[in-house]
Amino acid sequence: SDADIAVVGLGVMGRNLAFNMAEKGFRVALYNRSVERIDEAIALAGPLAKNLVACHTPEDLVAAVKKPRALLLMVQAGDAVDETAARLQPLMDKGDALIDAGNANFHDTVRREHALAEAGLAYLGVGVSGGEEGARHGPSIMVGGKPEVYARVKPIFEAIAAKFQDTPCCALLGTDGAGHFVKTIHNGIEYADMQMIGEVYGLLRRGLGLTPAEIGDVFERWSEGPLSSYLVDITATVLKTVDPKTGKPLVDVIVDSAGQKGTGRWSAIEALALGAPASSITAAVEARGVSADRALRKTLSERFPGAAQPLTLAGNREAAIELLEKALLAGKILAYTEGFAIMSAASREYGWKLPLAEVARIWRAGCIIRSTLLDRIASAYDQTPDIESLVLAPGLTPLFEGAVGALPEVVAEAFRHGHAVPALSAATSRWLALRQPRSTADLTQGQRDFFGAHGFGRIDAEGQHHGPWSQSEG
Ligand code: 6PG
Repeated sequence: SDADIAVVGLGVMGRNLAFNMAEKGFRVALYNRSVERIDEAIALAGPLAKNLVACHTPEDLVAAVKKPRALLLMVQAGDAVDETAARLQPLMDKGDALIDAGNANFHDTVRREHALAEAGLAYLGVGVSGGEEGARHGPSIMVGGKPEVYARVKPIFEAIAAKFQDTPCCALLGTDGAGHFVKTIHNGIEYADMQMIGEVYGLLRRGLGLTPAEIGDVFERWSEGPLSSYLVDITATVLKTVDPKTGKPLVDVIVDSAGQKGTGRWSAIEALALGAPASSITAAVEARGVSADRALRKTLSERFPGAAQPLTLAGNREAAIELLEKALLAGKILAYTEGFAIMSAASREYGWKLPLAEVARIWRAGCIIRSTLLDRIASAYDQTPDIESLVLAPGLTPLFEGAVGALPEVVAEAFRHGHAVPALSAATSRWLALRQPRSTADLTQGQRDFFGAHGFGRIDAEGQHHGPWSQSEG
């Protein structure tokens, strides 16, 4: 029993996390329900195998780990976590910890932490971002749980995490579900970012007539500027990739129906529950849903033909590309602003005191949404932890102001020529609504009072008032 930690669930993510730990000198006990995966992992480990302990039963696994034990689960989110926890729990001793490193729904994490605490066991809910590559060489790690439990695995987590200028992208963000909540919102922002990139790709392709390879070049250029990010980088690579089978751009042979595992949708659901707007995230989730309804799209496109038309944006191609870059940047800033505002609302609701500057800092490397923008966001929250809106931060305002004018222009032009831009337009509408000194909710309040006597405030008096409706009805 000399292993520092156990990893349960040896899919791509679990195996790579275990290899990462082994490489940093930790001894890792391995277990998987289908036992062939265990030997497979050992075979793939090469020289790292000397730090791995293959365990073929849950009993062997628990016996292999130093007390108090840390058992990390990397199994499919949902029932599999409860089933695995139920198998391990009777074998564990008081004070041992289970760590769920999958993409759990944070409500489940809260429930599991409390259930295990009743049995004297500790729990951490940990969001891990960065895909396969991140798991192997440095993910961003978002931890929720008790400080004394985190302290026990902190050296391992900090050793395996991505580094941004030598600082590990790993932090305890709050109690129970805080880590998984932050990971969920990370993914919500990921959805919005990817959708906006996709919309701009569509405008460059069908609106300006560029080829995928040319668009790849455009994104490559953009990745040198304020849009610099992992997602923009991989977009360039994906667009420039040629299908070996047909010689066509790979993107043209990929079925245009997006998958989703739930985290984006949870972001939208939680935001609604908190009363915090998630306009662009929700639009991105819905856009994936629309893409997946291929049968309906086929029927409607045949019944109502009229494909998207070329854009007449900005007069010439270069100017149009520049406008699209600005629209994407403004959209991205608004999506991040939205994501951080949701976390801020959740933090108040659940008493987490989420350190938003720290969240931005640990997203600067390792995770899927890593981008230079996050450095500015981290500084913004460092300077003003309770800033009303990120677009007011001195480090962001000039960038945003220089770009946001392009948003309505691009969206209007896209609509006029038949292009769908759901996430960009949702961000635009919300932005335009927010910058109006007077909204149209005066009318809404009048209507509510008319049919339900709900009352309204007056601009020239205190208290609740009612309209003279009986006179007008008469
Ligand atoms: C990450 C990713 C990762 C994964 C999600 C999103 O941060 O490493 O977000 O968690 O890609 O599963 O997946 P869907 O697009 O399938 O919802």
